[in-house]
This record gives sequence, structure tokens and C-alpha cells, in this order.
Amino acid sequence: MQNLQAQLATIIDDLTKNGYAICEDFLPAHIIKALADQAQKRFIDGKMQAAKTGKATNVQQVIYRHDSIYWLDEHSQNTFTQAYFAQIALLKTALNQQLFLNLHDIETHLAVYPIGGVYLKHLDQLKPLTDAPMPIRQLSSVLYLNDNWHPHEGGELRLHLNAPEYVDILPNAGRLVLFLSAEFWHEVLPATRSRISLTGWFRSR
Ligand code: OGA
Ligand code: MN
Repeated sequence: MQNLQAQLATIIDDLTKNGYAICEDFLPAHIIKALADQAQKRFIDGKMQAAKTGKATNVQQVIYRHDSIYWLDEHSQNTFTQAYFAQIALLKTALNQQLFLNLHDIETHLAVYPIGGVYLKHLDQLKPLTDAPMPIRQLSSVLYLNDNWHPHEGGELRLHLNAPEYVDILPNAGRLVLFLSAEFWHEVLPATRSRISLTGWFRSR
């Protein structure tokens, strides 16, 4: 496991060169496990909501995604949620200082995908509907919480580069993926087991 300064330096290099970065062991294993347990419990207790991104056509409702989500609060009293936000704050400071991204906050949710669940190809940066100033998603971040994930289980994040190129990234516990929200079309492929992640978007004003 690298120290945080080395991890941040690599992330910044990769974002500068490629527009995306993959970092292993973003948090210690016991914290990743506690976050995963928290997600499982909320899911089982029925405390999560179905994520809503669908499009009504005159034929049928097209479902884009199958995950259930739970929004996390930056001011949570939960130790593990705090550990996540503390690490994210260090990352945000480094990104602002070295890449001048002007990020001011992050919105984050836990997500649980059922077996076979997908999120079809999409972009995370939404077009503003009005001229009113509103925060814009600049950098997407996904932290995976799945212990012992095997390649044959699927569930990759497919990040589309210059078509037809793409990279497939397995949702291994502790792995953090960052990419520019406006640039990268991406999708979640189906898996043979349920799949847990913590997805965040750094926003600028
Ligand atoms: C999203 C998303 C990717 C993943 O929630 O917008 O693209 O790998 N998630 O979970
Ligand atoms: Mn996305």
C-alpha cells in the first residue's frame, strides 16, 4: 500500500495525462468493509431508494439503471463515513491546488446493484435546465466495496475512451476510479453477484 502523498501524485499525473485515474487501497480494508456492511444493512432494511433515471417513451419505460441508492451526509456521525469524507477532502485539496479544478463540494451515495443489474451507457455531467447558477459535476469518483471480487463475476465499469477503445475496470474493494464527468461515457456491466459502490461527484459552482 502506497502512502497517501504518493497516491495523490499518481492520481494527479494520470488525470492530467488521461482524464481518468485508478487508485488502489484508497482507504484501509477495515473501513472499506464497514462501509460495505453499512450498505448491505441499509439495503436489507429497505432504507435505500431505487435510483431514478428512466425515460418514458410512448412504447414503454426504458430503465437505465437498476441500483438502489442511499445519499451520504458529509456531517454524518458514523466513523467510517467520516473517514471516507476526510480522505475525499484531502483529495479535493490536492486536485484544487495542482489541477486548478475549483471543486467545492462532493455529493455521494452508496449504491447496491442486484445480480444482473446494469447502468446503461451515460454521461454524469447533466445539462443545466435553466440559466440559474447551479453546481456542476466536474469529476466523477467511484469507490468499490466488494471483497474478493473475481474477474468471471463481471460487473465491470466500462469507461469509453476514443471509440472504439474502452477500459473495463473490476469493482474490487478499495479501488477508486476518477474521471472527468463531462468527457467520459461509461456504463456498468451485469454481474453474477450483487455489487456495492460509493459514488461521488465533485462539483464546482
Ligand atoms: C454512476 C456510475 C459507476 C459504477 O453511479 O453514475 O456510473 O461503477 N457508477 O458504479
Ligand atoms: Mn455514472
